[in-house]
Amino acid sequence: MKIGARVAVVGVIFCVILSITAIIQLQSNKRIESLRREAWRDADLLTLVANESRGEWVARAAGCIGCHTDSENDGEMLAGGVGFDTPIGRMISPNITSDRRYGIGTWSREQLADALINGRAPNGSHYWPVLPYTAYRSMKTQDVVDLHAWLMASKPIALPDGEHNLWIPDAARHLVGLWKVLYVPAEPLPNASMPSGQYLVQNLGHCAECHAQRGITSGIANRSLTGNTQGPHGVSVPAITKTALRDWIAEDIAFYLEIGMTPDGDFAGAHMAPVIEHSTSHLEPADRAAIAEYLLSDINQ
Ligand code: HEC
Ligand code: HEC
Repeated sequence: MKIGARVAVVGVIFCVILSITAIIQLQSNKRIESLRREAWRDADLLTLVANESRGEWVARAAGCIGCHTDSENDGEMLAGGVGFDTPIGRMISPNITSDRRYGIGTWSREQLADALINGRAPNGSHYWPVLPYTAYRSMKTQDVVDLHAWLMASKPIALPDGEHNLWIPDAARHLVGLWKVLYVPAEPLPNASMPSGQYLVQNLGHCAECHAQRGITSGIANRSLTGNTQGPHGVSVPAITKTALRDWIAEDIAFYLEIGMTPDGDFAGAHMAPVIEHSTSHLEPADRAAIAEYLLSDINQ
């Protein structure tokens, strides 16, 4: 066989293997998603009674407001327009107000749960994981229900979504299904018995999105809060494990999450300031104490 023909045969075999792998992975992704849907059915997503005012607490704790409000340009609450630089280009958060045309005013509880827990749009396409569904995967059903009620009661803003500026076609989001097989486990973590600090840090607060190391495909294989040399905009993010925080006592951490000041008298900068401003400073003192307790506990290594 000529060299060219050999290369062609190897190429064809390679493509066949790649396609088979892709099909297996997509099937496994479908299985994972149907498992999750089963889990919601058990969890009474449709029958729980919503507590709308508690929904704002969920939105604060989960950082929805910070990411979906363009505060730098005096944007309206939840109307989107915040830019995120990612390895594949710049993404713009969409309008999630109750506007029925430009926002999510027509969305059901199930559609919101599918977006937040499964990373799926109502039309079935995948969201880019900049929407941190990898962390929200174990969100409590009551939290989704309350959040949904609060979002539906938010002021409707008729502002169209900004366009992402990616260097690959947006249609590549169909491949996110493969990525999810690696980084979004089928089984949600058991959240019912999870201490509230762990739930606030590892689920709603998605602290690992910045405080954990990412792999080459931008996924977080290990959600330990050991810091990230390549955080948002290439800025380094410190470790916040028990060991890294050995000079902090629980009250220092709670104070930092409320006011933004470290025990040394420095103020939180970079990407932590908006987290404090839009999220942790609005929580209850007991929530910040629970976060501090979790960060200083033995499980946070
Ligand atoms: C780190 C920033 C970030 C956080 C935190 C975040 N989002 Fe988003 N969200 C985004 C981005 C960016 C997109 C666009 C994703 C895409 O295009 O695939 C998005 C997409 C969405 C969508 C899809 C809207 C549509 O029109 O299809 C909804 C709904 C949504 N987010 C709601 C929320 C809620 C509710 C929360 C809090 C529980 C939240 N987001 C937290 C950044 C964020
Ligand atoms: C958007 C990225 C981002 C998210 C999300 C985030 N952080 Fe941070 N965090 C940072 C950065 C960047 C710093 C360093 C701030 C500085 O240099 O002043 C930091 C600093 C800190 C510090 C101080 C550490 C030190 O040694 O000075 C603590 C404590 C902390 N974060 C806790 C949290 C908790 C708890 C959460 C989740 C509720 C969280 N962070 C979510 C980016 C983030």
